[in-house]
Amino acid sequence: ADHRPLAGRHVLVTAGPTWEAIDPVRYIANRSSGKQGFAIAAAAAALGAKVTLVAGPVSLKTPAGVKRVDVESAEDMAKAVKTALPADVAVMVAAVADWRPKEYRGEKIKKRSSAPPALMLTENPDILANVAAGAKRPELVVGFAAETDNVLENAKTKRKRKSADWIVANDVSGDVMGGDKNRVHIVSADGVETLDEMPKSAVAMALVERIAATLKAEAAE
Ligand code: C5P
Repeated sequence: ADHRPLAGRHVLVTAGPTWEAIDPVRYIANRSSGKQGFAIAAAAAALGAKVTLVAGPVSLKTPAGVKRVDVESAEDMAKAVKTALPADVAVMVAAVADWRPKEYRGEKIKKRSSAPPALMLTENPDILANVAAGAKRPELVVGFAAETDNVLENAKTKRKRKSADWIVANDVSGDVMGGDKNRVHIVSADGVETLDEMPKSAVAMALVERIAATLKAEAAE
């Protein structure tokens, strides 16, 4: 038998940005390399989990043993996540665009000498909040929070507002974006655990080990 800590478990991970199309050549997006999410998918697979990685547009290799579903927009990501459920754990690392253009223009918007076009936006679904409130809620729902200020306060508020079990807060006021290192705080109902700054792969393994320990403790109850 497979005795790895996440054997027999399904872990769903979202990663990367989303692209919200304006017209065939333009989009709005969030800044995200996808590195931290891909590292988490890799770590979960290494610990024996069946992993579904729903990835926005990124240029990263699929980690070994991971089932990858590529999406572009937040709406597509929401659909792919729904299709991937049920899962024991959801780790939502994607930097989902909060808004999308209200209308998609099927033809390229022409540049004119008159005023630039106004962009009307509409809100995207909150994938994390919907998963956490849904009928197929995974046993453990983990969100991320990229913050530039009041990192812990914002993370605590976000945890409650989105009904997540944990929020992994990272301070992105420095050069975390696109970089290889990360410094995170794991905010749960039990309090805050701050990890040292370390490579994103090590952050991923530390997080996934805590996930495995938590599932094990809950199974023993
Ligand atoms: O509200 P904010 O975007 O800061 O929340 C970040 C967390 O929520 C991340 O885990 C992110 O993946 C998730 N999220 C989501 N769908 C959205 C917005 C954020 O799943 N539309």
